[in-house]
Amino acid sequence: MVSSSKSKERTILITGAAGQIGIELIIQLRKRYGNKNVIGIGRTTPPLAVLNQQCPGPFYLGVDVRKMNDLEGILKKHKDIDTIYHLAAILSGEGEKNPLQCWDVNMNGTLTVLEFAKKNGISRVFIPSSIGAFGSDAPRQAPQDCAMHPSTMYGVTKVAGELLGDYYAKKYGMRVRGVRLPGVISSEAMPGGGTTDYAVEIFYEALKNGKYECYIDADTAMPMVYMPDAIKAMIDLCEFEETENKKLTHYCDFNVTAFSFTPRQLAQKIQLFIPDFQITYKPDFRQKIAESWPDNMLDTVARQEWEWKPSFTFEAMVQDMIEKLRDRKKKQEVIILNRKGQKKNHKHQNYDSSFFDPFVIGFYFFASFFLVSYKVKLYFFTMRIQAQQLLFRQTTFHFNISLVQHYIHESQRD
Ligand SMILES: NC(=O)c1ccc[n+]([C@@H]2O[C@H](COP(=O)([O-])OP(=O)(O)OC[C@H]3O[C@@H](n4cnc5c(N)ncnc54)[C@H](O)[C@@H]3O)[C@@H](O)[C@H]2O)c1
Repeated sequence: MVSSSKSKERTILITGAAGQIGIELIIQLRKRYGNKNVIGIGRTTPPLAVLNQQCPGPFYLGVDVRKMNDLEGILKKHKDIDTIYHLAAILSGEGEKNPLQCWDVNMNGTLTVLEFAKKNGISRVFIPSSIGAFGSDAPRQAPQDCAMHPSTMYGVTKVAGELLGDYYAKKYGMRVRGVRLPGVISSEAMPGGGTTDYAVEIFYEALKNGKYECYIDADTAMPMVYMPDAIKAMIDLCEFEETENKKLTHYCDFNVTAFSFTPRQLAQKIQLFIPDFQITYKPDFRQKIAESWPDNMLDTVARQEWEWKPSFTFEAMVQDMIEKLRDRKKKQEVIILNRKGQKKNHKHQNYDSSFFDPFVIGFYFFASFFLVSYKVKLYFFTMRIQAQQLLFRQTTFHFNISLVQHYIHESQRD
């Protein structure tokens, strides 16, 4: 899948490894470098079961990227770490609900990770940026270089994160790199509270309920990429070896994208596979964020400098998503979606645990009701048996007494 070839052994640390991108990146990197050489860390969210099924390996929870001590603790266990993919972040939708937390995690987290890498001689650090780094004054087809005036706290942290990465690369000679990702569409983990989440949720709802209420307006276009291509972009750029003739002119801000579409266009493509699928629109606060972003990104620089090229077209992505999710459904995997599209603390448990499915809850309810009534019936049945036994014993006792009395009486007569 990833085009560059494995060049040498690596020990890789991935922050935010249980997130939407992290879970698929860790799987690909473990396939490439071996399970034990790719270490996942997260703060509260446990990884999906698929990780342990496909490639079990070291994964640590309770590690906060803002805390140097937490990261040092991991290094004590894995001394050979030479590469970090820093994915832990608060995304645009969640970030607007709590801007200070977004600043804290995205900025202090990135700074701590970069300082940790510098201090410990870990020279390769990959930090994804985002379409969210652009503001409404950027051209609708956003070029590689233009004014960056984002209107969200997430965007502010992404621009600052790009600049911070550039600074560590230039000042300390570290190999810090990153891509500006558009919305990422994936079939494994659910997205973590971004503005483009609708483009994943819509597939789950289409297959489950045949309808979807979209929080983005019908004709708002945003650029997107399918997860296998997003992973390929990240690994390819991280692995890219510069030569005299092939130098990178950017560090942490390469535009990459695959296609751009509106919710209406996506719904039409889904209807080719699910003809009865219905979409309605009820824009919420994320509509304003989407409008402030470009309709598309121009990624010619990435294509020229490190040969970025997505393999999935819009049509191929829709077909693959539907086939994968149908396949999962067939295997009796229960697909759950938080209908408001909002992440809770343990989103993977909310989204993926069959325990929370309404049908399963119904089943548990009836099963408990049946068991309780059965137990009550059993209790009364046992009581009745005991009462009958008592009655029988009493009757036998009285019968025996009268029999004895009868014999005494008879013997006295004799
Ligand atoms: N998913 C997208 O569509 C998209 C698009 C553009 C850019 N990106 C960027 O890619 C990166 C990964 O995105 P994602 O979609 O996988 O995000 P996600 O929200 O799914 O995952 C982020 C993970 O970081 C963890 N985290 C949050 N705070 C933490 C902390 N203080 N310490 C340790 N872990 C913490 C969360 O628990 C979560 O598991 C982010 O930098 C994001 O900005 C994502």
